[in-house]
Amino acid sequence: MRREPGRLEGRLIAVGVTGSIAAYKAPELVRLLQAEGADVVALLSPSATRFVAPLTLEALTRHPAESDVLALLPDGRIGHIVVAETADAVVVAPATAHWLGAMASGLAGDVVTATCLATTAPVVAAPAMDGEMYAHPATTANVRRLREDFGYRIVAPETGALASGRSGVGRLAALPTIVDAVVAAVGDGPVRAPDAPARPPEAIMPREADLTGRHLVITAGGTSEAIDPVRSITNRSTGKMGIAVAQAALDRGARVTLVVANVRVPLPEGVRAAVVPAESAGRMRAALLEALTDQPGQAGFDALVMAAAVSDFRPARPAETKLARADSLTLELEPTPDILAEVSRIARGMDADGRETRRPLEPRPVLVGFAAETGSLARAPEKLERKGLDLLVANDVGAADSGFGTDTNRVTVYRADGRPESWPLLTKREVADRLLDLVAGLLDARDAAAHTGLLTQESRT
Ligand code: C5P
Repeated sequence: MRREPGRLEGRLIAVGVTGSIAAYKAPELVRLLQAEGADVVALLSPSATRFVAPLTLEALTRHPAESDVLALLPDGRIGHIVVAETADAVVVAPATAHWLGAMASGLAGDVVTATCLATTAPVVAAPAMDGEMYAHPATTANVRRLREDFGYRIVAPETGALASGRSGVGRLAALPTIVDAVVAAVGDGPVRAPDAPARPPEAIMPREADLTGRHLVITAGGTSEAIDPVRSITNRSTGKMGIAVAQAALDRGARVTLVVANVRVPLPEGVRAAVVPAESAGRMRAALLEALTDQPGQAGFDALVMAAAVSDFRPARPAETKLARADSLTLELEPTPDILAEVSRIARGMDADGRETRRPLEPRPVLVGFAAETGSLARAPEKLERKGLDLLVANDVGAADSGFGTDTNRVTVYRADGRPESWPLLTKREVADRLLDLVAGLLDARDAAAHTGLLTQESRT
C-alpha cells in the first residue's frame, strides 16, 4: 500500500527534550513527526536524560541522540552543530522554565540551547511546567522574549492535570498541535540538507546476540602473489571491511574464523577469533576448502563472508631467487582460481562443470561475496549468479568516501532472493551489522525450512 506523502517529507526535524515529566511524551512526538515523513534527530538536556533514555530516542530516530554538548560524533564532527546546520526546524518539547530562561539569556550550556543558538532554522517551543512556574513573571518575560525577539513559535501549554496533582495551565500541548506548529514553521521552501551524509550519521544500534552458536568464516585483506622471494603483486585492500564484519560477528555471539591476507589494521579483540594467515590466493583457497567440510557431507561453517580482495591474476612461474635488475621485465600472469565460486559449487554438490554429482553439504552454508568496482556496479548481478551466492555487496571503490582504507562505505547489496538495496553512506561497522542482519535472517530461514522439511518427512513415514 502506498503511503500518502507526509507534510514533512524528506525534512530533518530536531526534537529537543528538556527535563520535565512531560519528556515521557517525546518518543511519541518523534513517531508523529516520522509519520509525516520527517527524518528526526533527538537532543536532550542533562536532566531530560533522567526522564527518557537517550537509547530510546536513538532507537526510534536511528541517529545518535545528542546529550553532551562537548561530545563529538564517531566521524569527528560536533554533533549539535551538524544538527544546527542541517535541521529544517528545531522543536523543543517539553520546554522547561529553566530552558526558557537559559535560552532567553543565550546560555548555551546544554545541547538544546546550543543547537538553537547555532541554527538559522525555525524554532518551535512547547513549554510544560507547574502552573505557578508558568505564571511567574520571569517565565512570562522569557516566553515573550523568545516569541518577540527571537521569532520562535510558542505552542502554549494547556489546562489540565499537572504532575503536582493539582490542575492548572502548564500541561504540554497536545502532540498533534505541536506537529502542526512544526509544519507551519518549516513552510514549503526547499529541504535544507537533502543529502544524508551532510546530516547526523546513522546510530550504531546494539544488536542482540543473534549469531550465538553460529560459525562464521570471514576473509579479510588483500592477497599478494609472489613474483620472486622479495616482490609480489598485491592490491590496495587494508582489511578494514572484513575486520569490521569479524568484530561485529564476535559481538553478536558468533564463533569466528578469520582468514587473513595482508591487513593494515589491528585484528579484532577477543580470543574467540581463530586467525588463519593466508597470504596468497592459493593459501586462501586451501584454508577455505579445509574449513568447508567437517564430517563428509557436512558443512564446517554456517556462513562465509568473503571480504578479502583476492588477486585475479598471479605470476605463472614465480622466480625462486630474486630477479636481477634488467632493462625490462615481462611477467606472464595466470588467473587465480575463483575461490568463492569453487566453495559455492562444492557446497551445492556440483563438479567443476556445474553438474550435480553429490548431495549438497548440510546445513547449506550462506555465502556472501564482495565486489569492488570502479564507476559502475552493472556487473554485480551477473557475479552473484555466476558464483552462486546468497548476497553480494558491491561498492564503487573509486569514490572518495567508499573503498580501500576509508572508514565509511556506500554499498549496494544484491540478494539471490530479492531486489538490490542501496544503503546510504555508513561506517564500515554499520555496513557489517546490517549485512549480518541479513545473514542472521538467511540462517534462520534456512533452519526453519530444514525443520519444516523434517516434519514433512516425518509425516510421510
Ligand atoms: O570477480 P570479483 O573478483 O569481483 O569477485 C569478488 C568476490 O569474489 C569477492 O568476494 C572475492 O573475495 C571473491 N574472489 C574469490 N576468488 C578470486 C577472486 C575473487 O573468491 N580469485
